[in-house]
Amino acid sequence: MLQITHLQAGYGELQILQGIDLEVKADEIVALIGPNGAGKSTVLKSIFNITTITQGQIIFKGKNITGLPTYELLKLGVSFVPQGKINFGELTVQENLELGAGMRDKAIIQKNLERVYHQFPALRERKEQLAFSLSGGQQQMLALGRALMQSPSLLLLDEPSLGLSPKLQVELFQMLVKLKQEEGLSLLMVEQNAKKAIEIADRTYLLEDGKVALQGGKEILSHKKIKEVYLGGR
Ligand SMILES: Nc1ncnc2c1ncn2[C@@H]1O[C@H](COP(=O)(O)OP(=O)(O)OP(=O)(O)O)[C@@H](O)[C@H]1O
Ligand SMILES: [Mg+2]
Repeated sequence: MLQITHLQAGYGELQILQGIDLEVKADEIVALIGPNGAGKSTVLKSIFNITTITQGQIIFKGKNITGLPTYELLKLGVSFVPQGKINFGELTVQENLELGAGMRDKAIIQKNLERVYHQFPALRERKEQLAFSLSGGQQQMLALGRALMQSPSLLLLDEPSLGLSPKLQVELFQMLVKLKQEEGLSLLMVEQNAKKAIEIADRTYLLEDGKVALQGGKEILSHKKIKEVYLGGR
């Protein structure tokens, strides 16, 4: 579904990604982990064309999407939920969702709204509530829901569990698995919570200094690199 080859990218003259190869297959959850500053967010931003790409290619469903403008990417089915809160606090839940849909016809908006409310009943119950007054977990649901309004087939998520309590983190990860299973979505997610991410992901990439340092399935949980750095082995 998504193939990234030899990607070199950064910000202006500053090169961060030093030749990344990464793949997301259909119906896969792929996790991107690594220390702060490794370039995880830069990978997602590069797919979404908000970095300077100097080398490499990004192919989505067989089409070269390197450097395409945002609206084209959305149209093709790539959606991005950036790090941090991205909802409009002074608008209601439903208004946020409708805005998330962008320029689509009413029937599709209505259908997607129903899908989102089906996935997140807590949002349906609060559709008239102003976004700023939602709990942290509900705000994260709303951010996800807004992306789903765009009918994506590939969802890019930057630290979806950030700021959530351990209990809400578990719920969020279950929700992501459910989205994959029920909606056939592919997910590429950046996560600080390495253990959880590896557990729910079909495959994981460990990024260090703008390079892929390790990749694999759940078996990498027992890799000494992962154990040392992330799982309390230090
Ligand atoms: N807009 C920008 N302009 C210049 N440098 C940037 C910009 N955004 C990020 N960087 C730099 O790029 C490097 C990689 O940042 P990135 O945000 O991709 O890291 P990350 O792996 O997502 O880290 P974290 O876990 O802290 O979110 C960092 O050194 C950062 O300072
Ligand atoms: Mg980041």
